[in-house]
Formats: sequence, C-alpha cells, structure tokens
Amino acid sequence: MQQASTMKSPPGTTMVAALVHVLVAFSAASSAAAAATAGEQPLSKIGIHRTTFEIHPGASVDVSPLLLGLQGQDQEWVTIGYSNPRPSKDDWIGVFSPANFSDSICPAENQWVAPPLLCTAPIKFQYANYTSTDYVKTGQGSLRLQLINQRSDFSFALFSGGLSNPKLIARSDSTTFVNPKAPVYPRLAQGKSWNEMTVTWTSGYSTKEATAFVEWGVQGQIQILSPAVTLTFSRNTMCGPPARTVGWRDPGFIHTGFFKDLWPNLKYTYRIGHRLFNGQIVWGHQYSFKASPYPGEDSLQRVVIFGDLGKAEIDGSNEYNDFERGSINTTYQLVKDLKNIDMVMHIGDICYANGYLSQWDQFTAQVEPIASTVPYMVASGNHERDWPGSGSFYGNIDSGGECGVPAQNMFYVPAENREQFWYSTDYGMFRFCVANTELDWRPGTEQYKFIEHCFSSVDRQKQPWLIFLAHRVLGYSSATFYGEEGTTEEPMGRESLQSLWQKYRVDIAMYGHVHGYERTCPVYENVCVTKASDKYSGVFTATTHVVVGGGGASLAEYTAGPRARWSHAQDLDYGFAKLTAFNHSTLLMEYKRSRDGSVHDSFTISRDYRDILACGVDNCPSTTMAS
Ligand SMILES: *[C@@H]1O[C@H](CO)[C@@H](O)[C@H](O)[C@H]1NC(C)=O
Ligand SMILES: *[C@@H]1O[C@H](CO)[C@@H](O)[C@H](O)[C@H]1NC(C)=O
Ligand SMILES: *[C@@H]1O[C@H](CO)[C@@H](O)[C@H](O)[C@H]1NC(C)=O
Ligand SMILES: *[C@@H]1O[C@H](CO)[C@@H](O)[C@H](O)[C@H]1NC(C)=O
Ligand SMILES: [Fe+2]
Repeated sequence: MQQASTMKSPPGTTMVAALVHVLVAFSAASSAAAAATAGEQPLSKIGIHRTTFEIHPGASVDVSPLLLGLQGQDQEWVTIGYSNPRPSKDDWIGVFSPANFSDSICPAENQWVAPPLLCTAPIKFQYANYTSTDYVKTGQGSLRLQLINQRSDFSFALFSGGLSNPKLIARSDSTTFVNPKAPVYPRLAQGKSWNEMTVTWTSGYSTKEATAFVEWGVQGQIQILSPAVTLTFSRNTMCGPPARTVGWRDPGFIHTGFFKDLWPNLKYTYRIGHRLFNGQIVWGHQYSFKASPYPGEDSLQRVVIFGDLGKAEIDGSNEYNDFERGSINTTYQLVKDLKNIDMVMHIGDICYANGYLSQWDQFTAQVEPIASTVPYMVASGNHERDWPGSGSFYGNIDSGGECGVPAQNMFYVPAENREQFWYSTDYGMFRFCVANTELDWRPGTEQYKFIEHCFSSVDRQKQPWLIFLAHRVLGYSSATFYGEEGTTEEPMGRESLQSLWQKYRVDIAMYGHVHGYERTCPVYENVCVTKASDKYSGVFTATTHVVVGGGGASLAEYTAGPRARWSHAQDLDYGFAKLTAFNHSTLLMEYKRSRDGSVHDSFTISRDYRDILACGVDNCPSTTMAS
C-alpha cells in the first residue's frame, strides 16, 4: 500500500508530500490504535505542500497593529481584514511565522519532481467566515487572532480551495513584537535534590550574542545572579515528517537556570535575563515560587496530576473535531486555584504538537501562569515519543516525527538521562516515581531497575505517600480501545510491575492516555483485595489505580456492558486529580471536573506507620524461626 501510493504521486508532488500521503494512509489504516490517542493535529489537515499561487490583484489582507508588545506583553490580539472578489465558503486565513514564508526552503528530494511552492505549515488558521458570516456574499471579512511572541515576525495569507488544496490569493504585510527574541514562558521544575528548583525558558538569544542568567532571591534581600545553560535542537534531530518537513519551525534557544541551596518553603522571586555582549540586559518578567519542603517534612502538601492536556486557542483558531477544547477549562481551573497547589504533574501527551513545532511555544504560553509559579513536572507520552524505528517501545507515528526531542528540551526533568525520561522526585511526604511507558519497562530492563530502586529507596516513615506515575495505563482501565483488544491495560503492564507495587506498598498508581477518569478498588492480580471505599484506614492492602487522562484532549469511551469488579468510579469528562497530604497519616485524593472545579470522586487513606510495615499479601519476606 505504501509503495502504491508513492508510485501514484501526481507530477509536481515531492517525496515529502508523498511521504505525508503514506503516513496519512498509514494512520487511517491503524485507526483502531489511533482511537486510543484521538490526536489529530488540526494543522495536519492543511495540505500546505499542495499550495498553488493564484495571487489576485483585487484581493487583499491587512493586519493591525504592525508593532506588538509595546507595553512589554508576550501575547497580543491583532485584527485581520480581508477582501476577495471571488469568495468561496471554505476560504481561510493562515498565519505564518517567520513572515516571509515563501522564503522557506524545501529540500529537493529527487530530480524528477519540482519542489512544492510552500513547505512551511502555518502556525494557526481560521476560516474566513468565522466571525464574518456573510463573507461568502460580500467577500469582505475580518477576524481577531491572538499572537504570542515566538521569536519571529508574522504575516497573514488568504487561501481559497479549502484546507486540502490551498490556493494563495493574497498576503499581508508583516507584524512583529517589539523584541521577538525576548525571553519568555518560564517553566519551573524540581531539581535533582530537594533544595534545588530549575527554571527553563525560551528566547532568540544564542550563546554567541548573550549570556543567559537568572536573578533571584528573597524579596527585600540581596538578589543572587546565577548562570543559565543554553540548549537547542535542529531539524536533523527530528526523526521524520511532519516534524522534519512542513512542521519544522526553529525552536530558538532553550535556557535552564538552577536555584540552589533553597531554604525549605521560603518564597523567592526571580527574573530571567540575557546580558548582550554590548552590556545591555534584556529582562523577562518577574515571577515568584515557593521552595519545596524537606523530604519527610510534616506540612500541608498539594499536588495536581493529570495527563493529555493539550492546547487550544482562545481565539477559536486551529480547531478540528473539537481536538483539545477541554484544555482551556483545565488550565483555567488550575490558574484559579493556584494558591492551593504546590506542584503539577502532567503525565504525558503534553501538547499534541505531533510534529508541528510552533505548537510547543503556544503550549508553554498557555501554561505559563501555572508553570512559572509551581514546579510543572512532565512525563513522556506516545505523542511526545513514538516513531517507527526510533527505539520507542511502540512503533506508531503518534509523535509526528518528533521522537521525543522537543519534549526533552522544552521541559526539564530531574532524570539522569533526559532522553530516557524516567525519574523520581520528592515533595515533602510524597515520593513520586515517574516511568516512561514509551520505552520498555519489563523485568530485566534498565527502566525496571529504576522503578524498583525508586520504590525501595524511600524511607516510608518520613515519606509515607508513595505514588507511581506513567502515561499509558499499566494497571487497569475500562477504555473501549483496550476492550477491543480483549484487555484492560497495556499488554505486559501490570504483569510486569504488580509484584513491585505490592512488595513496596505503592499507595496510588496514576495514568493518562485514556481520556477520562477511572478509579479502582485496592487491586492486586485483577482481584479487589479490599472492597472499594471512600475511606481507607489501617493496614496497606493493595495499590489503588487511577486513570486521569481527561486533561483536555477529546474524550475516550468505556466498554459497554457490565463493569469490571475492580472499576469503582468512572467519569467521562475533562478533569484532573489533586492529592493532598495533610500529614503523615492522612492523604486525600480528589478528582475535579474542569468545567467547574467540582469534586466528582474522592477517597482518603488514614493510617499509622505500623500499617505500612504490616505484612499483607505478598509483601513481606518470610521470617526466621529464631527469636
Ligand atoms: C464557514 O466555513 C466552514 C468551511 O467551509 C464551514 O464548515 C462553516 O460551517 C462555515 N461557518 C459559517 C458560520 O458559515
Ligand atoms: C522573501 O524570501 C524570498 C526568497 O528567498 C526573497 O527573494 C525575498 O526578498 C524575501 N522577501 C523579504 C521581504 O524579505
Ligand atoms: C492529620 O490530618 C487529618 C486531616 O486534617 C486530621 O484529621 C488528623 O487528626 C491529622 N493527624 C495527625 C496525627 O495530626
Ligand atoms: C468548559 O466550561 C464551561 C463552563 O462550565 C462549559 O460550559 C463548557 O462546556 C466546558 N467546555 C468543555 C470542552 O468541556
Ligand atoms: Fe496518549
């Protein structure tokens, strides 16, 4: 099938286009598996490589204002006006950045076919009739769009021919932020030790023109200057299309500063900046954060956990099939409750850029109010990592050719090797062991050793709350797409790990990937060890598994018919979980809906230290007869 579709490529189509065809066909063929991910990036609906130029002198597009961010903003609204003497109902506006999109160079794939005229996808699009409902009659329209500062200028183009066969009719002048290179969208993450926080941000400044740094300290006291490191990645680190072709966009420079020797729980302020070689300093905005508690410290500790958030545009652009509308409500609820949140864990399927790299900037802009204030810890999901022949455990195309590289660079995680993406992190009485389901976890692998070490190296008297996190469901789920395969998990998930969960008394295992909420009873080897309850107390019996993948991407379905015995609570809506450790003996798990922040399921665990030590099913070594 792949051969055939390559052979049939019409003249004028390049290999790039042909490969995109193949991949589209390939993903359609494996749509049963794709349902699991429901992640069709709206930008992939645009056949940009098929664009033809049919500039019409009577058509026009204009934009105002032409200069953005005059008050130092990183986001601003623009108004686009357009007219077309021959309007049609599926005309659309594409936003391009850099503005000179015809400048983009298409690699010549072979000598027989002409390269496409355009090989850079727009960063956003909207139909011309979106707010101008009589556009088809009058040929006149206007649109308001939100732009974020992402290192380059912007232009706007009017297309006819729909998304799939674009005909470029007119294009606008360019608009730009005052300083397109400005340092933007800081995201905090826990460092490798309890008293270290990190901040990662993006700018247009390479190490050849400026020194990146953070200025930070306790308000009113002497401020510290610390160096930040600078990384980037290039097109040739992408594994395939669209990331390597039409979806590629220069990621600029990604900087990470380290706040070290923090005093526990103290509030710090910080500013990111770049010192240019002419001495001038370019500052980012000022932000603040609270340092993490010492592992084991007894204080109120609240961690929000969800998967599969994604991004959506508040201007209504980039919509296809209600792709990730839910992410706006989730983001809004988290921002609203931020003073009651100490850390956020986004367990995979971060922004579904799927190879359209501009979307990573837009995601970091969306979560900026959260990520600049509390540590925003990510895990790897299929939409970050999976690519055939790239060493991912699954050989699908869900990452759109990114094969993990943007995720590993855009967000810091305290992993020994950020490419492997598994790590542990402590927050007071919590220990989180974060796995990477896109790499092999089975016994004998490096990841399995890491998971066991993470569980076994925690002192439960001090950190009683042991939480396992992973993107795909390694425990239990009633999702239709597992049911259709005759299973309730990723094959070899719990079979590989349940003896570790049981031996080390993992309290809760949480997953994303299935876009919805589900909670089990304390379950071991498929059987409820304890009856499900909203109040557990006393001796640890078995791990409770929670799927919380309703962050924002289109919702999943549950298998019809009788529920599995282990499935205690389900909700098919957008939402997130919040863990509250009140002290060493009481933990609360709440599941909240994103539409209104209301709690739709919850349970508490109350126990003493001896209840963790107590022997239950399969979790104590045999004792000696000697006394
Ligand atoms: C605008 O055009 C799109 C694409 O043709 C169409 O699906 C949509 O219904 C139209 N909207 C309005 C408000 O006419
Ligand atoms: C845009 O790029 C084209 C092709 O490289 C070049 O000829 C043209 O001068 C550029 N236009 C502007 C406004 O920079
Ligand atoms: C722990 O917190 C819970 C909930 O606030 C409270 O009911 C309980 O008395 C506390 N236990 C201890 C030992 O402080
Ligand atoms: C977001 O929240 C609003 C207000 O509760 C609700 O009306 C809307 O349906 C929600 N959107 C989604 C996609 O759930
Ligand atoms: Fe996923």
